[in-house]
Amino acid sequence: MKVFVTGGAGYIGTHTLLQLLAAGHELCVFDNFSNASPVALTRVRQLSNRDFDLVEGDIRDAATLRHALADFAPDAVIHFAGLKAVGESNDKPLLYYENNVTGSVNLLAAMDAAGCRRIVFSSSATVYGEAQYLPFDEDHPIAPTNPYGRTKAMVEGVIADWTKATPNASAVLLRYFNPVGAHESGRIGEDPRGIPNNLMPYIAQVAAGRREKLSIFGDDYPTRDGTGERDYIHVVDLAAAHLAALEYAASKTGCEAINVGTGQATTVKELVAAYERASGRSLPVEVIARRSGDVASSCAATAKAADLLRWRSEFGVDAMCESSWRWQSGNPHGFAGD
Ligand code: NAD
Ligand code: WQD
Repeated sequence: MKVFVTGGAGYIGTHTLLQLLAAGHELCVFDNFSNASPVALTRVRQLSNRDFDLVEGDIRDAATLRHALADFAPDAVIHFAGLKAVGESNDKPLLYYENNVTGSVNLLAAMDAAGCRRIVFSSSATVYGEAQYLPFDEDHPIAPTNPYGRTKAMVEGVIADWTKATPNASAVLLRYFNPVGAHESGRIGEDPRGIPNNLMPYIAQVAAGRREKLSIFGDDYPTRDGTGERDYIHVVDLAAAHLAALEYAASKTGCEAINVGTGQATTVKELVAAYERASGRSLPVEVIARRSGDVASSCAATAKAADLLRWRSEFGVDAMCESSWRWQSGNPHGFAGD
């Protein structure tokens, strides 16, 4: 299949490229490198021993996007490109709406012009907001609590409307839980700019000695040990879900939202302990106040993914931490080390 991959140079994108190339797909990556390094794509080429097209461009630039799609004439699009920092979205909401929502509208218009009717979209469990019940199934009410989450919910709605209005269109909205870990080679992984916003890359940098200690945001939640619990999903499992979603999208029309998680919740303290085992290092932590906006628990219902995509996660938190540590310890400065 010819697959056009927006945001393919990023964390989840690069891991997915490797599996797409291994499966023999022909690819065009479209990325503006606003949160990625070209070195990551060089490493994907080395690891896969395969080549692919690359267009450096911005999804907000409708004309460039239209030309790129028309030139490549894809059978399907995987749409990773977007901004993803919750805190930044509170400070710069218009940047988020323009990048994530306008960019996605441009993409669908360019797909229309190129006659492409199949899309897999990177959505997020954050669209559910505060849990009314757990685990979150796909019918849980959608009530995001920050601008980033609202952009994801809006784009889901735009894609659903586009699917209804476009004959033979097919869309899969993948709602990722908490993606972590790295490729087994240790050559690609998550490379956040500045201070990491998320738990796993922060732990990794503490283990590497780049940060002094981890601040645990609250230990008075109603969980096993009082710290927040999340459904961490290995990025390699997540990448595999995209291949399954592509196949599924090719087999039907209409729009489906599908969770991508493991169904298992891990607390902050449990993740720290797993990372200590994986790295052989003891990690300094301090407990501080809760982070505003955080929920106690999040966990995916996984039946729909198993049923429709025939996909299930394989890896547990130990494998997630081991792969993260291989990447972190082998690339202490991320892709900037090259
Ligand atoms: P990432 O930042 O590593 O990757 C996003 C990629 O999109 C980057 O390569 C960036 O340069 C590119 N990009 C951003 N804006 C662009 C634009 N206007 N034009 C062209 N390219 C642009 O993030 P990721 O973790 O790989 O996330 C990929 C997608 O998955 C995002 O849409 C994100 O919102 C979503 N998601 C991520 C998580 C997570 O925790 N990592 C969870 C749920 C959903
Ligand atoms: C996990 C747990 C924190 C950092 C965010 C986004 C969400 C999604 C994934 C894209 C929580 C605790 C964290 C730290 C800590 N992204 N923590 N110390 O908040 O579940 O989700 O990333 O769609 O939209 O909101 O993930 O990794 O930030 O936090 O104690 O330094 O770790 O309180 O319990 P979260 P996270």
